[in-house]
Amino acid sequence: MRLFKIYVISVLLLGCTHKNNKTNTMPPVTIEKKQFGITKEGQNVDQYLLKNKSGMQISIITYGGIITSWTAADKNGDYKDIVLGYNTLEEYETETPYFGALIGRYGNRIAKGRFSLNDTTYTLAVNNGLNHLHGGLKGFDKVIWEAESMTSDTEASLVLKYLSKDMEEGYPGNLATTVTYTLNDNDELRVKYEASTDKTTIVNLTQHSYFNLTADFNKTVLDHELTINADAFIPVDETLIPLGDLSEVSQTPFDFRASKRIGQQIDEENTQLINGLGYDHCWALNDQDKGMRFAASAYEPVSGRLLEVFTDEPGIQFYSGNFLDGSLPSKSGGVYEQRTGFCLETQHYPDSPNQEDFPSVVLHPNEKYESQTTFKLSVK
Ligand code: GLA
Repeated sequence: MRLFKIYVISVLLLGCTHKNNKTNTMPPVTIEKKQFGITKEGQNVDQYLLKNKSGMQISIITYGGIITSWTAADKNGDYKDIVLGYNTLEEYETETPYFGALIGRYGNRIAKGRFSLNDTTYTLAVNNGLNHLHGGLKGFDKVIWEAESMTSDTEASLVLKYLSKDMEEGYPGNLATTVTYTLNDNDELRVKYEASTDKTTIVNLTQHSYFNLTADFNKTVLDHELTINADAFIPVDETLIPLGDLSEVSQTPFDFRASKRIGQQIDEENTQLINGLGYDHCWALNDQDKGMRFAASAYEPVSGRLLEVFTDEPGIQFYSGNFLDGSLPSKSGGVYEQRTGFCLETQHYPDSPNQEDFPSVVLHPNEKYESQTTFKLSVK
């Protein structure tokens, strides 16, 4: 009997130890690689799936460094995809409003596709009405990046590299660019941008994910509650080029200093909202001398999902998906209707090369371009 008791106790203890072991051997942070597709020109495109211990999964492809899916937990712990995009490479190659892509060499618009540096005028593609947008005809969103992955106990990183040749898309200098995506166990995705050049040039890199925190791409984002840490924004003309001065957000639909539904004032009679077809503006973030700081957040009350964005950039373009018009197929079977996704693109201001008073986007040889943005998901 005594022996039996000892046996039972030992089995129970072993059971406990085993259980403890189980917690210690939770699935580690991982990265899986597989083929995503082959481009029309016959180039291979890989997909990297970054997974953390809590269950977040982010898929990134080497074409455009595009985040094709990104799962986040709702208040019941259900992980669902919260970014717009496509299921196939062919769809990305056919037509995309920059879904999930890395943007370069210049995120946002440059008036009439022209700028000057050291008395030389450079001409860029005019690919957005009268202006140059997001790097041109074949920007960083459409090139193949070289990839290398690495993991530690708590982080999974994907290092993407691309060498943009001198005068590619009209920009001077060979620009060696590295973008590192790092997912950690706190459901944070850090995006680190680095670049160097051999001739004086301009650079303004960003990430163009479209979020819909409901995880239902048939719903609009109008009920998301948005906060932007900015006392001023940059008014634009009808072609979305800055007028020059900053405007106080106070008493305007552009005041998101206290959280407010995206849809609350979007349809108000307001010249800036008319020019943007809604929100499609750059906010001049507060505390620009502080380095990394809180920039913006979006909260979706039904799912409880909260997205927070931190950056060391001076600005953030908040775009409310105004040009989505039901013509592009969604991942989940339907189509992307207007305002079914929003972007929070951290960056320098639009058209900076032609605006003397805006923070400089000039990069000289022997300087290093460095910038960082963190997207944090949680529930509230
Ligand atoms: C950016 C621009 C928008 C629009 C989208 C892509 O966010 O500011 O005007 O061009 O990209 O459709």
